[in-house]
Amino acid sequence: RFEPPDQEKVKAMLARYPADQRESAIMPALWLAQERFGFISQDAVDLVARSLDVDSSVVAGVATFYTMYHLEPVGRHVIQVCCTLSCSIMGAEKLVKRLETKLGIHVGETTKDGRFTLKKVECLAACGYAPMLQVNEQKFLENLTEADIDKIVDSLP
Ligand code: FES
Repeated sequence: RFEPPDQEKVKAMLARYPADQRESAIMPALWLAQERFGFISQDAVDLVARSLDVDSSVVAGVATFYTMYHLEPVGRHVIQVCCTLSCSIMGAEKLVKRLETKLGIHVGETTKDGRFTLKKVECLAACGYAPMLQVNEQKFLENLTEADIDKIVDSLP
C-alpha cells in the first residue's frame, strides 16, 4: 500500500484532472508505484487502481503498453536500446548484440549481480541521433557505435 505521504501525492495527482477523467492520473501514479516498489507487479496495478478508483484492467493496459514501466524486478541500471526504424537502420541490432555479449544476458534479462537489465524499446524520440539508447530514466546516449558500448557499461557503477 501507499504510505500516507504517497497517498497525498496520489490525491494531488487526481486533483489535476476533472472528476470524470480519473484515468489521466494513472501514468503518474504508476511512476510513483515503480519508484516505491521497483517494478509494477499485479499488486501494484491493483493498488494504483484502488487509489484512483479506476478498473485494474485499465491500469494494467497502461502499465503493459509503455516500456518505461517495468513489469518484473530490474537491475540497478536499465539499458533500453531503441530498435525502431531510424535506430534500426543505423545499427541498433549490433548494439544489442554487443550488449548481450558484454553483459552475458539476452534482451529482457538481468545480470546475476543485479547490475544491468537489457531491454529493446520503441522510438524514444531521439531519431536524429540514431542509434541511441537510454540508461535508467534520465540518460540518453546517442550516435552510438559498437565501440561505445564497452565504455558505457564500464562507466556504470
Ligand atoms: Fe530511435 Fe526514434 S527511432 S529514437
